Amino acid sequence: MAKSFDVVVIGGGPGGYVAAIRAAQLGFSVACAESNPYADPKGEPRLGGTCLNVGCIPSKALLQSSENYHLLHDGFAQHGIRVKEASFDLGTMLGRKEKIVTQLTAGIRGLFRKNKVAFLPGHGRFTGRGGAGWQLEVGGEPVEAKHVIVATGSRARALPGVPVDNVLVSDNVGALSFDTVPGRLGIIGSGVIGLELGSVWKRLGAEVVILEALPNFLAACDEAVSREAWKVFTAKQGLDIRLGCTLGEIKAGTSGVTVAYSRDGKDERLECDRLVVSIGRVPNTEGLGAEAVGLRIDARGFIEVDGHCRTTLPNVYAVGDVVRGPMLAHKGMEEGVMVAELIAGQAGHVNYDAIPWVIYTSPEIAWVGKTEQQLRSEGVEVRCGQVPFAASGRAMGLGDTTGFVKVIADAKTDRVLGVHVIGANASELISEAVVAMEFAASSEDIARISHAHPTLSEIMHEAALAVDKRPLHF
Ligand code: FAD
Ligand code: NAI
Repeated sequence: MAKSFDVVVIGGGPGGYVAAIRAAQLGFSVACAESNPYADPKGEPRLGGTCLNVGCIPSKALLQSSENYHLLHDGFAQHGIRVKEASFDLGTMLGRKEKIVTQLTAGIRGLFRKNKVAFLPGHGRFTGRGGAGWQLEVGGEPVEAKHVIVATGSRARALPGVPVDNVLVSDNVGALSFDTVPGRLGIIGSGVIGLELGSVWKRLGAEVVILEALPNFLAACDEAVSREAWKVFTAKQGLDIRLGCTLGEIKAGTSGVTVAYSRDGKDERLECDRLVVSIGRVPNTEGLGAEAVGLRIDARGFIEVDGHCRTTLPNVYAVGDVVRGPMLAHKGMEEGVMVAELIAGQAGHVNYDAIPWVIYTSPEIAWVGKTEQQLRSEGVEVRCGQVPFAASGRAMGLGDTTGFVKVIADAKTDRVLGVHVIGANASELISEAVVAMEFAASSEDIARISHAHPTLSEIMHEAALAVDKRPLHF
């Protein structure tokens, strides 16, 4: 007989596991299916999805390790700290990363036990309608559910005709686990993964060349931020980023990869020891049985949903990377909570206008809301306040005064419409701006909040004051 649940979640990443936990908290009987073992030594499916296994968490572990090593060389001398000989052990670095991943993925299993969420290892798919509501199969076993939440996530987009072996040509999975530091690392795509993982291997000694199709660098960021980031990453840190590239043939030999490309009408060639392809991600909907039940998928492969993550089928929801919107773990988690609460008859809601972005390079880049260029092109009159971290005593003490905070407010109402930060700890500083946007605050509201001294957050305060042309320390 089929196991039967109020809610079955397909996919155990941030969107799925959070939806499962919240639904269980609300009193439903819940199961969550997950098929991917990632790097589990026993080959058992692991919870946590891309984020915990081969995304956010392992990349941030390596970013921190490589940044620490970099600081030994280039950061500590200004503090009068000299290190005669600094070296690193890549095995230990990768082992530390794996330990964090194992601990966190096991932690989700623990949270499932605590919240009484049944873990169903195996591939989940729809088989039909009937019984309690929806008929599914997980790992070949029949399962019934009144409500289904699809949270199957995404995988790296491949370049046509360029197979990924995660040895010579890698996606995010291979690029997080190189067993040696490549002498020359080629990266296709100067997006978030290209910059984060490019920074990791550059700091550990690789010569990094990034080929980007677009003529603009970090096109999603406010132009002031992209300009500053370009200066720091290229001139200061030595990342070789080539914009406006059209790729030609990519050949993987026995010990390296050759990439033919053209730029400014000239044919060029990149020889590298390893190549990382980071040109975006595609949603996972294959083998989901969508056709068996008529679940609608749009032309780009995303499951069609409304503003509340309801699919075209009754009691079937989809959240996270498999639906429209930014492919970010916290966006998926918020959608998971919203959907569980909607199933419980509550007023679940996600404010898509206040979802922060962070790029964990050094300096970090973080923003929420719109850019000045977006707003002006929409005809919105804005006032901007931009103040550099060079005006902060705390930043001086840290030895890192790179970057700035830019607050953008509506010229008529003063409501904050966007905040853009490039600098140390931007990932943490952005939270204040998210709260401001969530509560429709004005720049004057931020300007009237007491900010602890000396902290980097004082620059957020100063940038808000600067909107009204009255910064106190700049
Ligand atoms: P996923 O995490 O992809 O999880 C979906 C899960 O469903 C997978 O485990 C998959 O195996 C499983 N699955 C798929 N189909 C089935 C099926 N039919 N049956 C059973 N199981 C199935 N985001 C951030 O917010 N911050 C970051 O710092 C960040 N860093 C990143 C770094 C890298 C290198 C990458 C690649 C991504 C990063 N992201 C980051 C993005 C983030 O990982 C994703 O947005 C997030 O994981 C999406 O969550 P999800 O639950 O929708 O999907
Ligand atoms: P991305 O969308 O950030 O960047 C892809 C880049 O590749 C773009 O600049 C694009 O113009 C370029 N590109 C596309 N096709 C190309 C081609 N043929 N030749 C050269 N360049 C090409 O995608 P990325 O870096 O793969 O990351 C995927 C997603 O994962 C991100 O969009 C983000 O949602 C998520 N992520 C989030 C992180 C974070 O929050 N810190 C970290 C890493 C990933």
